[in-house]
Amino acid sequence: MKTVIFKKPGIPKEALEIIENAKLPTLKEGQVKVKVIAANINPSDIMFIQGLYGLRPQLPSPAGFEGVGIVEEVSEGVQIKKGTKVSFASIGAWAEYAITEEASLIPIPPNIPDEVAAQLFVNPFTAFALLHEANLGEDDFLLLTAGGSTFSQLVIQLAAKQGIKTICTVRRDTQIAQLKELGAHAVINTEKDDLIKSVMALTEKKGAKVCMDAVGGKLAGEALHCLAKGGKMLVYGMLSLQESTLHNGIMIFKNLKVEGFWLTTWLKYTDSNVVKKVAQDVITAFSKKELKVFIEKEYSLDEIKQAVQHADSEGRKGKIIVKV
Ligand SMILES: NC(=O)c1ccc[n+]([C@@H]2O[C@H](COP(=O)([O-])OP(=O)(O)OC[C@H]3O[C@@H](n4cnc5c(N)ncnc54)[C@H](OP(=O)(O)O)[C@@H]3O)[C@@H](O)[C@H]2O)c1
Repeated sequence: MKTVIFKKPGIPKEALEIIENAKLPTLKEGQVKVKVIAANINPSDIMFIQGLYGLRPQLPSPAGFEGVGIVEEVSEGVQIKKGTKVSFASIGAWAEYAITEEASLIPIPPNIPDEVAAQLFVNPFTAFALLHEANLGEDDFLLLTAGGSTFSQLVIQLAAKQGIKTICTVRRDTQIAQLKELGAHAVINTEKDDLIKSVMALTEKKGAKVCMDAVGGKLAGEALHCLAKGGKMLVYGMLSLQESTLHNGIMIFKNLKVEGFWLTTWLKYTDSNVVKKVAQDVITAFSKKELKVFIEKEYSLDEIKQAVQHADSEGRKGKIIVKV
């Protein structure tokens, strides 16, 4: 089978290779073989290939963390039936076949298109889980850095339904109208506007109750100044790859908290009934078309290097999908 691998960590366009005749390992108990239809490209995939992610690759390593496909083979004890269309999470989604655990599969109804089903795990699960962790109510302010990301777009849509007011940062004006349409309360272009002054004006000097930060660096340091007394920053991304400065004074006198969030840990330690409920909520929201995700371009598996390069570029209007 055809698969994408890397032999040593590096910039994806240099490190990735397509192998034509890779052998799939025999299924272990609880495992399922999926014939991949389409896969997503996320910032975490790119960090994994560069050796910067929380999971270290076992070299040579397959690549790609999530996709959609058809169950083709099941091991003993597995409940899911052959022929079921599933969203899946596994290392090695950029391939003709992926092997995954049954627990990492969600059956997909026919009305969810493949390019949406290919991205149902990483961002939607994180959006539902982090919004739950944020514990916000009607009229509370939520600050989102990297407001134009797929994750933030999902949070904006979910928050709007609950009356939570999202203030989003972007670095280009072209994203403002789209985020407002999705339900953002306000969008701040940090290339032009002063973040702290803008948030304080929008919140009548109170500040935001929670910030979800995916950027780090200078922006995260400023975002901490935008929090209300007793506020919390949920750190879930490191897009700038820069360390942030933390002002001890505001941490102490505003009684602020900073907490890390990683979906992998959340899935491991959260009650399986809560995880099942999130999976059900994700499927319901997408099949009822209550949540939107955007696609910038589709590539074939043979075009993986161009696809990853495009995914790693600035100013995209949606996800890059690999059709297998
Ligand atoms: N912790 C977890 O479990 C978890 C789970 C899911 C996602 N995440 C994280 O969530 C973040 C968003 O993921 P995604 O898939 O939603 O992203 P995405 O759709 O690929 O979009 C990336 C967005 O980030 C913006 N961006 C990139 N670098 C930036 C920088 N240095 N400063 C400001 N903005 C920047 C881009 O803005 P431009 O348009 O201006 O380029 C773009 O809008 C990533 O950091 C990802 O790792 C974490």
